[in-house]
Amino acid sequence: MDISLKGKRALITGASSGLGEAISKELASSGVNIGLNYHSHPEDADRVSGELEKTGAEVIEFRADVSDSKQAFDMVDFFVKKWGGIDILVNNAGIDGKHALSWEADLSEWEKVVKINLFGPFYCAREALKHMVAQKKGVILNITSVHETIPWSGYGSYTASKAGLSMLSKTMAQEAGSSGVRVLCLAPGAIKTPINQNVWSNPENLNDLVSKIPFGRMGEPEEVARVAAFLVSDAASYITGCTVFVDGAMKDYANFIHGG
Ligand code: BGC
Repeated sequence: MDISLKGKRALITGASSGLGEAISKELASSGVNIGLNYHSHPEDADRVSGELEKTGAEVIEFRADVSDSKQAFDMVDFFVKKWGGIDILVNNAGIDGKHALSWEADLSEWEKVVKINLFGPFYCAREALKHMVAQKKGVILNITSVHETIPWSGYGSYTASKAGLSMLSKTMAQEAGSSGVRVLCLAPGAIKTPINQNVWSNPENLNDLVSKIPFGRMGEPEEVARVAAFLVSDAASYITGCTVFVDGAMKDYANFIHGG
């Protein structure tokens, strides 16, 4: 199947590591021009863009904090002007936040997670949709999580932000659908990236995590990136307003393999 991404223009947030890095690589190797957003680690952004350029892709790095509306708007505007439009926005930037029970949560930590994971995608999508709706094409892929449906004790800000992003995406899909613009979510399960390295680098924690995955192993970033490439391509032209899970069936409550 030809997923026909050649020459498309994609802005990917949080692209200097983890899933954002893998998605950028997959899209670049399919001929997509990449707007590589990062926030805290310019050295990682340089490393990733160096690797992407080897594929022949055009890569432009842009430092911005997506949780700051002005920075997010300026970034989208920059790429729209530079490229003369935008085809794809992948809202990937996100953090898990610090473990804290809801009644013990530090307010600024709680708000930080929601601002990065929910407000950030909204700010970027708001600007991108103005152009996509006017040009009558485009796709926004929001990276959520199995925790858009699975509660996760100690991570209330994270689960709330991902569930909120899921519903925001479906609403935006309704709003922009008649203009030919797709908005959807990709929900990864436990994928081996720096975000959960503290878990998978410890054998006991890794065993506990894997026991929650019916497929019996963690996922690799490339397994998410390949699905992302399909979803933003015209091959997925009738998929919108929904969430595609890439999770080894994690959301289906592995603990119910026995008993009940
Ligand atoms: C989180 C990871 C976690 C996974 C499964 C993801 O959304 O970012 O830290 O391992 O969900 O719980």
